[in-house]
Amino acid sequence: MKAIINLNQLVTCSHTSSKAKRGPEMNDVGVISNGAIIIDNGLIRGVGSTYSLQKTIDKIPKENIIDGKGKIVIPGFVDSHTHAIFAGTREAEFAMRLQGKAYMDILLAGGGILSSRQKLIDSTDDEIIEQTKARFDRMMAFGTTTVEAKSGYGLSTEQELRSLELLKALSDRHAIEVQSTFLGAHAIPPEYKDSKADYVSLVCNEMIPIIASKKLAKYCDVFCEKGVFDVEDTERIFETAISHGLELRLHSDEIEALGGTELACALGARSVDHLIAVTNSGLKALEKCETIANLLPGTSYSLMKTFAPGREMIDRNIAISLSTDCNPGSCYTESMPMIISLACLNMKLTPAEALNAATFNGACSLGIQDRVGSLEMGKEADLLLMDMQSYEAIPYHFGINPVLRTMKFGEWIS
Ligand code: NIG
Ligand code: FE
Repeated sequence: MKAIINLNQLVTCSHTSSKAKRGPEMNDVGVISNGAIIIDNGLIRGVGSTYSLQKTIDKIPKENIIDGKGKIVIPGFVDSHTHAIFAGTREAEFAMRLQGKAYMDILLAGGGILSSRQKLIDSTDDEIIEQTKARFDRMMAFGTTTVEAKSGYGLSTEQELRSLELLKALSDRHAIEVQSTFLGAHAIPPEYKDSKADYVSLVCNEMIPIIASKKLAKYCDVFCEKGVFDVEDTERIFETAISHGLELRLHSDEIEALGGTELACALGARSVDHLIAVTNSGLKALEKCETIANLLPGTSYSLMKTFAPGREMIDRNIAISLSTDCNPGSCYTESMPMIISLACLNMKLTPAEALNAATFNGACSLGIQDRVGSLEMGKEADLLLMDMQSYEAIPYHFGINPVLRTMKFGEWIS
C-alpha cells in the first residue's frame, strides 16, 4: 500500500454517471482540500481528506508515503487523438507554411502525409520504434497515461499492418497505455491518384478484414476532407469497419465541412475530431448523440487557423474532449498541459472544463472511463503529482512542464 497525503488539492474529476460530462457538469472537477489518495495493487483504495483517511494512512509504512504539501494530484491525461507512430519530421514544411503555403496544398502536391509515408517506408523497424518510444516517453513526462495512436502513414496493406504491429510491439513493453486506431484512409497514395475508389476498396476488402482479425486496432478513422475522402467514401469504410467490430472515430471539418460530422453521429462514432469548420447542422447532430467532439487546439495554433467553437459546444450541452493530435505535420507536440492552456485562452474554456475534457471525457471518447480518467475508489491509479497550489495554474503557467511525477497503474513511471 502507498499514499500521497497533505495535498493542497486532490482533483478527482469524478462523475456520478459513466457518461461524458456536459454543460455545467464540466465545471465540476471534484476538488478535495488537504487531500490524500491511497493506492494498492495498482488500484485506488482511498480518496478523501488526509484527516478522513488518517486511520488507514497510519498503517502504511513511512517510506511508502509522499508528503504532497504545496502540491496537487490530478488524474493522468488521456490523449485520445494522436498520430504518434511516424518516422522522421517535417520542419521544412513548417517553414513553408510560415511563408504562406497552405497545409492541404503541400499534401496535394505530394508532400505532407505522403512525405511521412516515404520516410516510414525508408525507415527500419528499429528506427520507427526508437522514435515513437521517445515520443511516448515525452508524453508520460508531460502527464499522459493513456494515448490513442493511429496508423495512416503506411497507405498500403503491408505498411499499415507494419505500423500497427510495431505499435503493438512497443506498447507491450512501454508503461504508457496505448489504444490503437486504423487510419488507412489518411491520404490517397499517388499510385491510386486517378482511382480513389480502388484504394477505398483496398481499405475495405483487404486492410480492415486483416486488421480486425489480428485485433491490431480497436477503432477505425478516416480523414474526411475536400481533396481526400468524401462522405460517401467515409460511409463505405465505416460500414465495413462496423461489420468487422471496429469502433469509429473521424477527422471531420478540419478545413472544410463536408457532412462527415452528421454521418459519424448517425453511425454512433465514439468521437468526431477537429471541428474547426463545423456548421450549425454538425453542432445540431452532436447535441443529440453520445459522440464526443474531440477538439485539437494545438492544430489550430500550429496551422495558424481559427479554433473550434469549444465554448459554444459546452454551452449547447455537447460533450467535448481535448487532445494533442501529435503528428509530424499539422501539430507536433506531446504536451497536454499546453493543449489545456490553448483551449482556455483561445476557446474560452474554464480551467475546470479543460481539465475534465483532457481526462474523464477523453476516457469516455475511448470507452474506457470505467477504468481510467478520474480518481475514484476501485479505478486504476493513473495520476500526476503537480508542482502547483491549484489546478487553475495548469493553463496559467504555460510553456513549462508542471508535472513532477507520473503514476500509471500504481507505479511511478516518470
Ligand atoms: O489530424 N489531417 C489529417 N491528419 C493529421 C495530420 C497528419 C500529418 O500532417 O501528418 C491531422 O491534422
Ligand atoms: Fe489527426
